[in-house]
Amino acid sequence: MRTVVTGAAGFIGSTLVDRLLAEGHHVVGVDNLSTGLAANLDRARRHAGARLSLHRLDIRAPQFGDIVTEAKPDVVFHLAAHVDLRASVTDPLHDAGCNVLGTINVLEACRRTGVERIVYAASGGSRYGAPSSLPVSEGVPADPLSPYAAAKFAGEVYLGCYAEMYGITPIRLALANVYGPRQSPYGEAGVIAVFASRLLAGQPVAVYGDGTATRDYVYVDDVVDAFARAGRAPAATRGLYNIGTGRQTATREVHRLISTALGQTAPPCYAPARTGEVQAIALDVSKAERELGWMPAVSLDAGIRRTIDWLRGVSKPATTALVEV
Ligand SMILES: NC(=O)c1ccc[n+]([C@@H]2O[C@H](COP(=O)([O-])OP(=O)(O)OC[C@H]3O[C@@H](n4cnc5c(N)ncnc54)[C@H](O)[C@@H]3O)[C@@H](O)[C@H]2O)c1
Repeated sequence: MRTVVTGAAGFIGSTLVDRLLAEGHHVVGVDNLSTGLAANLDRARRHAGARLSLHRLDIRAPQFGDIVTEAKPDVVFHLAAHVDLRASVTDPLHDAGCNVLGTINVLEACRRTGVERIVYAASGGSRYGAPSSLPVSEGVPADPLSPYAAAKFAGEVYLGCYAEMYGITPIRLALANVYGPRQSPYGEAGVIAVFASRLLAGQPVAVYGDGTATRDYVYVDDVVDAFARAGRAPAATRGLYNIGTGRQTATREVHRLISTALGQTAPPCYAPARTGEVQAIALDVSKAERELGWMPAVSLDAGIRRTIDWLRGVSKPATTALVEV
């Protein structure tokens, strides 16, 4: 299979590239390296030979269309996005530029080249807002509560328009909170990477709010398995699929699990809750199980241990300022 992966140097994107190459596929990766790291693809570059090519490019650039035309992909996996929810609150125009206009440019490239299958990384953690019951299923209407959530959902809406107008067959994977190796411990999104890296470095950890906010944590290899299944699914398979575990875990429980894994007992610091974030979320994944044959396989305990092992091999020290999570 010939594929294009946007956001190929990112946390999830690079893990997907590894998986696609391991399955024998060809990958053309596109990334502007705004948050992604070229080093995430070092091993892939060493082993894949001509099956992997990489372009440092913004998905909004006109040349993106030429890359897709030349690649003639069977599937475009669209993961490039501005992923910082807090920054989307302070600079919604920048966020929408990447996540709305960027997605339109990806869709235009697909339309011009005749690509039918697009697999899109939607935000399951933010698209439903604050649903009245959990775990939430795909039938619950979207209710984005932040600029990031709105822009990611706008991407979904555009996919729907292009499906109607041009017959493309998008699959939207609504991802819960993804964690695992290669997630940046320096940003603001990955609670597990940030907590683990700071605790490993003996630094204080800030929990925003009272620690009771819950998330549905899903391990990156499980998420990439969902992308791989979506990429090879028959054309009749399309639409929205939640990808998570169905389970809620409170932030203070995440802190406890990581502390226990590291043999530490110090409590976290608490800081005021932040604008734009939901209090509780968990995704009902029974549709993905039925129609994609997908189920999460890695428990939170095991995933946390794997993430800690990976962080132990990372030489860059954690930042000295209190990292926001
Ligand atoms: N990590 C999660 O918990 C989570 C949850 C739901 C959805 N998602 C979605 O999954 C996707 C991947 O997220 P991630 O966690 O791997 O984040 P990431 O920041 O590691 O990956 C995003 C990648 O896209 C690249 N990128 C950003 N803007 C770009 C642009 N304009 N042009 C080209 N490349 C650009 C970045 O350099 C980076 O490599 C995103 O679409 C995100 O919205 C992630």
